[in-house]
Amino acid sequence: MSKIHAAITAVNGYVPDYVLTNAELETMVDTSDEWITSRTGIKERRILKGEGLGTSDMAVHAVNGLLKKRGIDAKEIELIIFCTTTPDFTFPATANVLADKIGAINAWGYDLQAACSGFLFGLVTGASFVESGRHKKVLVVGGDKMSSIINYEDRTTCIIFGDGCGCALLEPNEEGLGVQDSILRTDGAGRNFLGMKGGGSVQPATHESIDAKLHYAHQEGPTVFKFAVTNMADVAAEIMERNNLTPNDVAWLVPHQANKRIIDATANRMGVTLDKVMINIERYGNTTNGTIPLCLWEWESRLKKGDNIVLAAFGGGFTWGSIYLKWAYDSN
Ligand code: UT7
Repeated sequence: MSKIHAAITAVNGYVPDYVLTNAELETMVDTSDEWITSRTGIKERRILKGEGLGTSDMAVHAVNGLLKKRGIDAKEIELIIFCTTTPDFTFPATANVLADKIGAINAWGYDLQAACSGFLFGLVTGASFVESGRHKKVLVVGGDKMSSIINYEDRTTCIIFGDGCGCALLEPNEEGLGVQDSILRTDGAGRNFLGMKGGGSVQPATHESIDAKLHYAHQEGPTVFKFAVTNMADVAAEIMERNNLTPNDVAWLVPHQANKRIIDATANRMGVTLDKVMINIERYGNTTNGTIPLCLWEWESRLKKGDNIVLAAFGGGFTWGSIYLKWAYDSN
């Protein structure tokens, strides 16, 4: 019997309407459009406004669109892996909330936390359930309402992050298409440089923790930048090498959108020209778990069956990784 591969068979995305521009940020903190653009490549990002709305509400839009596109009912979904750093609640899992909101009554699910590498970790985990034969329809969602943990008085973080959500459906493929290889890594020593100190079991919310602003994302930018450039480029190059892929063989690089300079360095290290790199950081900023599926969604119509695609990410805590997949369908 031939090996079952897990292939992406549909993608979709959603970004909220509100556009937070560099010009508006200039009125909030001491920054400039020139600084933000030259240091990060970001021009604007989306913000989810509205009382009582969380990450799952963006996912509802993304997933309902995906189901419609693929022509399947929510009841057919067997597993939901919700990759997020900003879950609706500490518990229950956002996957549960989403399943309820979309009517995925036959699915089980859980949240996966790997910061900006979450979607890659989720894709590999979801693929394993398909490859093993256990499930035939696995939904991997990546999304964050980063605005819920950003201090809009801190110019070093508030200019980078935005809100958004993307998703992909994994199904079995017997033509050898889909996920081919992956490299996933973690290094918990990185928790000191990018993370959130408050709100967990170590430091539950107290008046003091709120006053100390511990419930906001904390990042030591230059240190994270150094690790991100090296590690994201290394795993992307390593996955090419061990699969004998030359730059010509790679149709697309789909990098996590944290900083345009990190994307450039990764592409450069792989020898891939920028016309083959999915980049939308200028419009959405860093949506954490959302960046990679949002790229796949926006580029979907240009992807061809059999295209070799390399995904690469680096995130808080630290986490990083790369996936090599063969795209499984023509969308037109
Ligand atoms: O997605 C998860 C992984 N995260 C990342 O990969 C992010 C990695 N880090 C970065 O992308 C960059 O480090 C940042 C974009 C966060 C910062 O860029 P940088 O080039 O590393 O700047 P820096 O922090 O070294 O700051 C340079 C200068 C400093 O001023 P002095 O000390 O040289 O006078 C900062 O105070 O720029 C200043 N600065 C700003 N100026 C205007 C910092 N933030 C701002 C700002 N506007 N928003």
